[in-house]
Amino acid sequence: QVFKLEDYRPNDFSIPQTGLTFRLSPDATRVTAVLTIERRDGAAASAPLVLDGDGLVLKRIAVDGRELAPAEYLATPDQLTILKPPARFELLLETEIAPASNEALMGLYRSSNVYCTQCEAEGFRRITYFLDRPDILSVYTVRIEAQLDEAPLLLSNGNPVESGALAEGWHYAVWHDPFPKPSYLFALVAGNLGQVADSFVTMSGREVELGIYVEPGKEGLAGHAMDALKRSMQWDEQAFGREYDLDVFNIVAVSDFNMGAMENKGLNIFNDKYVLADRETATDADFANIEAIIAHEYFHNWTGNRITCRDWFQLCLKEGLTVFRDHEFSADQRSRAVKRIAEVRTLRAHQFPEDQGPLAHPVRPRRYREINNFYTATVYEKGSEVVRMIRTILGSQTFRAGMDLYFERHDGEAATIEDFLKVFEDVSGRDLSQFALWYHQAGTPNLTVSSTHNPVTREFTLEIEQSVPPTPSESRKRLMHIPLAFGLVGAGGEPVAYGGVEGATVEDGVIHIRKRRHLVRFSGVDERPAVSLNRGFSAPITLSVEQKADDQFFLAGHDSDAFARWQAFNTLLTDALIAAFRQILGGAKPVFSARLTGLAGKIAGDETLEPAYRALALALPGEADIARDIGRNIDPDAIFTAREALVLAIARANQDAFTKLYGRLAEDGPFSPDAASAGRRALRNILLDYLSLLPGGVELAARHFETATNMTDRAAALTVLAHRHDGSPEAIKALAGFEARYGADPLVMGKWFQIQASVPGPKTVETVRALTGHAAFSMANPNRVRSLIGTFSSANQTSFHRADGEGYRFFAQTVLEVEKRNPQVAARLATALRSWRSLEPGRQAKAREALLAIANGENLSADLRDIVERTLA
Ligand code: ARG
Ligand code: ZN
Repeated sequence: QVFKLEDYRPNDFSIPQTGLTFRLSPDATRVTAVLTIERRDGAAASAPLVLDGDGLVLKRIAVDGRELAPAEYLATPDQLTILKPPARFELLLETEIAPASNEALMGLYRSSNVYCTQCEAEGFRRITYFLDRPDILSVYTVRIEAQLDEAPLLLSNGNPVESGALAEGWHYAVWHDPFPKPSYLFALVAGNLGQVADSFVTMSGREVELGIYVEPGKEGLAGHAMDALKRSMQWDEQAFGREYDLDVFNIVAVSDFNMGAMENKGLNIFNDKYVLADRETATDADFANIEAIIAHEYFHNWTGNRITCRDWFQLCLKEGLTVFRDHEFSADQRSRAVKRIAEVRTLRAHQFPEDQGPLAHPVRPRRYREINNFYTATVYEKGSEVVRMIRTILGSQTFRAGMDLYFERHDGEAATIEDFLKVFEDVSGRDLSQFALWYHQAGTPNLTVSSTHNPVTREFTLEIEQSVPPTPSESRKRLMHIPLAFGLVGAGGEPVAYGGVEGATVEDGVIHIRKRRHLVRFSGVDERPAVSLNRGFSAPITLSVEQKADDQFFLAGHDSDAFARWQAFNTLLTDALIAAFRQILGGAKPVFSARLTGLAGKIAGDETLEPAYRALALALPGEADIARDIGRNIDPDAIFTAREALVLAIARANQDAFTKLYGRLAEDGPFSPDAASAGRRALRNILLDYLSLLPGGVELAARHFETATNMTDRAAALTVLAHRHDGSPEAIKALAGFEARYGADPLVMGKWFQIQASVPGPKTVETVRALTGHAAFSMANPNRVRSLIGTFSSANQTSFHRADGEGYRFFAQTVLEVEKRNPQVAARLATALRSWRSLEPGRQAKAREALLAIANGENLSADLRDIVERTLA
C-alpha cells in the first residue's frame, strides 16, 4: 500500500479522552482501553469508526457499557470497525498482548525484564485498537498494575496521580497527562530499575523533579546524562523561551532499542548507549552523543509534542527542527566551529549518498509505503539544514520572532510544513515560496562557480550556475533559492572591500542564488581576491569551483571562516586522493606534493587553532567520502591504497613534529570529558594513527593502549593496533586484554565488535562471521547487530565490497536473519547497499545478486521489501 500526501483528510472521529489499564505479565498482558469518541462536526452520520490494529486479539468490546453483538463490529488483527457508532460514546476495548515475545521492539515489549514501549511511528496499534495517527490528540490517564517484586517501578506519561498495593503481591500506579497528545507519544515503563534523582527550577520558578532510571547498579553512569538534561532545560529557556510544563521529567535507559531514543511526553525512553557513560567505558564521542541526544529528546517537548505533526509526511517538521535545535545547543556548549565541521561531515557521509542514490526523497516526502523507512538523514539532517537556511536568510532576530510566533500560533496543534513556513513569511514579509522547494524537491543542488578579475575596470565577477540532478520519480527540477555565504579574501587574509554589487541580491555576506545563472559583479576591487564560498556551509549543496591551487592553499591557511578554512584543506586532500586513485588504476605509484604534506604539518602544529579543529583537519576524507566524490566505477581497493599512501606520506613528512606534539599532548591533569580536553585527546590520537605507520609505530600504539586512563585513548589505540597492525602480537594481545577486561559490559563489547568489523582487508568477512557466534553477540539486540554487522557493511569498504562478492553474500544472509526478529533494524541495515550502482561492473553485479537474494526472502516484511525494491528500481 502506498500512502500519499494529497490523500490526507481528517478522520470522521476524534478521541478527546483515553483511559488505559495495563495488567502486566510477560506472556499475557491485559490492556483495557476506555476511549471517549466523538463524531466530528460535518462527518456523515452513517460513517463507521475504523480503528487501526497490528496483530491484536480482541477480548472484549462494549459501547457505553453495553457489550456489542458480533453483527455490530468487525475485528481482524489489523483493524476494528464499529459499524454504526453513536455521535458520542465511550468505547471499551480489551486486548491481550505478549510483551516477552515481541522481538520487533515496537509496541509494548520487554528488554532485560523491563517492560517498555516504543510507539512512534505506528507501534501504539500493537497495544490496542486506536486511531493511530498523529492528528488524533487525546488526554491520557494510565493505570498500570504489576507484581510488586517483578516491577516495583511503574511509569507513564504526565504526572503521577496515585499508587498503592493490590491483593496477592500486585500493586498499581496511575498517571495523568493533561496535555493532549498523539498516540505515538504514549509510553509505559515497568520493572526493577535504579534511580538517579535531581530537580530543576524553571524560569517561572516551578520545580520539576527529574529522574533517570537505569539498570540497578549502573546509577553511577547516569551523571553526565543528568547534567546534560539540566543544561538542555536551561538552554531552551534562554535560546527559545521554552519552559518545561509537567511536574516530573523522566528518562529511562533500556538495552534493546531500535533507534537512539524517543521523546514520549514526560517519559523519554533511551537506548542505554546514549545515557550510560564514565571515563572507563565511554569515549569522548559517546559523551558528546549523549549530550546531543538528551537535548534532542528534551527539545521535542515543544517541537514535536506541544506542536506535533498533522501526518507522517510532516515528520521533518519535528525532526529537522529539533535536530537544528540540538545542533545549536551543542554548538553553544562546545566549540561552534568544530561542531559545524562535524555536522557537515555527518551530512555528507549519510545524507549526500541518500540524495544521490535510489532512496532519494524530499525532506518532506509525498509518498511512502513504510514510514519507518523515512527516519532518514534527509528528514533529520537535511531537514535541520533547511531550518538553518531560514535563519541565514532572515537573520537571527527575525528567525527567533518566527519561532515565537510558531509556538504561539500552533501550540496544541498537529501542524504542517506550510504552517511552519508561514510564520516566517508573516514575521519577515518575505516570500518563501521558492525557498520551500528545499522541502519538496529531492537531490543535492550543485553550484558551478568561476571567477574573473579585470584590473582595468576594477571589477571582480563570479559566474555561478545552479543545477539539481534528477532523482527517482523527479526527473525535472525547479530552480532553488540557495543562500550562499561568501567572502572575498585579500592577500593578507583580510576581507576585501568592494564598492557595489550587481547580478544577484547580496546581503550580510550572503549571495542569494535564485536563477539558473548569475553573473555577480563586484565593483571597486583592485586586486584579484581569493574567494571563500559556502562559508559555514550555508547551504547543503555541492560546489564545483574553478579555483587555482594557490588560492586553495591560501584559504586553507588564512580563511577567517573556520568551516571554509577546514573545507579548503579538505578539498586539497580530496583532490590529491582522487588523483592518486587514478594513478593507482593506471598502474603508477601515487605521489603527493610536499606542499600538501607540509601544510598538514603546519595545521597540526598551529597553536592558534583549537586542538579539536586540528584533529578534524588531519582526519583525511574517509574511503566512502572519496568514493562519493569520484562518483562512479568505484574500486574500493584502489581508494584504500590511495588513502593509505597519503597517510604514510604525511606521517613521513612530519615525523619529528608529530612525535614532539604527540608527547606534549600527553594527559596531565585529571580526566575531564569537556570539549577542550576531548579535543586534545582527539589530536593526540590522530597523531598516533600517523605515527603508528613509522618505524616503532606498533610499540608506540601498544604503549598508548597500555597506559590509557580512559576509553577514548584505549579504543583509539586498539583501533590503530587492529587496523594498522592486524595480526601482530601486539594487536592480538590488546584485543584479548580488552575482551577479558570488558567481556561482561555489553556496551563496551560493542566497541570491540566495531573495531574488529572495520579491520580493512578481505579476511574480515570471516572474522565477522565468526564473531556472530561470540557469547557477547546477539542477533536480537539492535546495538550488537549495528556494532558488528552495521559497522562491517557501512564502515568497511575493502571487506564488505570484497571483489568476490563474499561480503555481500554474508550480508544478505544476515539481513534476512535479523529480519525474522526485527524488520526495522533489518531494513536499516539493508540501506548499506544503496550506492551499489556506483561500483565498478564486477562488484555491481555481485551487489545486485545480494539485493535479489534479499528481495526473494520468504515472507518479507513491508520494511525490508520497501528498501530492497526501491534500491533495485
Ligand atoms: N522520534 C525519535 C527521535 O528522533 C525517533 C523514533 C523513531 N522510531 C521509529 N521506530 N521509527 O528522537
Ligand atoms: Zn527526534
